Amino acid sequence: MWPDRRLIDLFKTEFPIVLAPMADVMDADLVIAAAQGGALGSLPCAMLSAEKAREQVNIIRQRVLAPINLNFFCHEAVAVDPAREAVWKQRLAPYYREYGQDPAAPIKAANRAPFDGAMCELVEELKPEIVSFHFGLPDAPLLGRVKASGCKVMSSATTVKEAIWLEEHGADVVIAQGAEAGGHRGMFLTDNIAEQPGTFALVPQVVDAVKVPVIAAGGIADGRGIAAAFALGASGVQIGTAYLRCPESKVIAPARSALGQARDDSTVVTNVMTGRPARGVVNRVMREVGPISGDAPAFPHAATGLAPLKAAAEKLGKVDFTNLWAGQAVRLGREMPAGELTRALAGAALARLSQMAR
Ligand SMILES: Cc1cc2nc3c(=O)[nH]c(=O)nc-3n(C[C@H](O)[C@H](O)[C@H](O)COP(=O)(O)O)c2cc1C
Repeated sequence: MWPDRRLIDLFKTEFPIVLAPMADVMDADLVIAAAQGGALGSLPCAMLSAEKAREQVNIIRQRVLAPINLNFFCHEAVAVDPAREAVWKQRLAPYYREYGQDPAAPIKAANRAPFDGAMCELVEELKPEIVSFHFGLPDAPLLGRVKASGCKVMSSATTVKEAIWLEEHGADVVIAQGAEAGGHRGMFLTDNIAEQPGTFALVPQVVDAVKVPVIAAGGIADGRGIAAAFALGASGVQIGTAYLRCPESKVIAPARSALGQARDDSTVVTNVMTGRPARGVVNRVMREVGPISGDAPAFPHAATGLAPLKAAAEKLGKVDFTNLWAGQAVRLGREMPAGELTRALAGAALARLSQMAR
């Protein structure tokens, strides 16, 4: 038995496990497989148009009868700064030369838009059971419309202060994202990455500070990690990295092999890929330009200058400029269908919890 059923009761899923939304590396297929295995499937919408998101939700609803979580970014949009773009292009100039790319050629802008009126209309139309946000919460009128549609709202907190802020501003669930986590840091009240607590320290302090259920995220990749999260007071877990090597993910082959070879010390937090701190397996541009660079334009514009290099390198089977977002437990990831993995994770966690209770 799960020691805490608050999340299972709220989500009406078989297990208190959330498949993390992972923009750019997954779509409906992974959501469906994880949901069929008993987890809450999350569809990342940050890089999708409203039409594409609708299409994906329709696919999911045709194939599985389960609650669904739609995930959005809600950062403050920052206009392109031509001066910073020029500095960035200058910094990347040797790579443009190496790959025979024209630095003056126009590039389609990075497509990571914050949650807006159009996406809110989509939420009102589709009425997903859950909506999750990264980088805080949208403004009160938009959030009010999401909640009026009957959706439960969750968002990531990377500090106790952010967790309290989320609860005070209407979150029904707080995701405590420790420093081990793969992908973007959900931080929104601080920009000091050096201060970000790890999952083991963050979760119990967040649990003490808020009344809403807390989901632990970051570095959880097997039954031991899930049992530990419950021991720390979490009502559930959100797992991303451990699902990346499932056949249903959309991770490209060379990235899949980089993830397969990664160890406990292979990931770092970098701002060079998008302009915002995120954890991933070190690639060439992170190593040579970062991992943290003052030259990187604000989120998401750093990604724009890298786009032609990413495309050219990927054609050669290289991930030198590709986001390899992954957390510190990447080595524990397994190549296994996501439904099977979900059941294995839940089974191992329950076995570990009952062993600990003896
Ligand atoms: C490849 C990848 C992409 C991610 N993209 C998103 C995203 O689009 N939205 C979001 O809320 N979180 C995103 N995250 C962060 C996850 O929600 C979560 O915090 C993280 O996966 C938990 O740590 P773990 O990777 O160690 O399991 C991403 C994580 C990874 C690994």
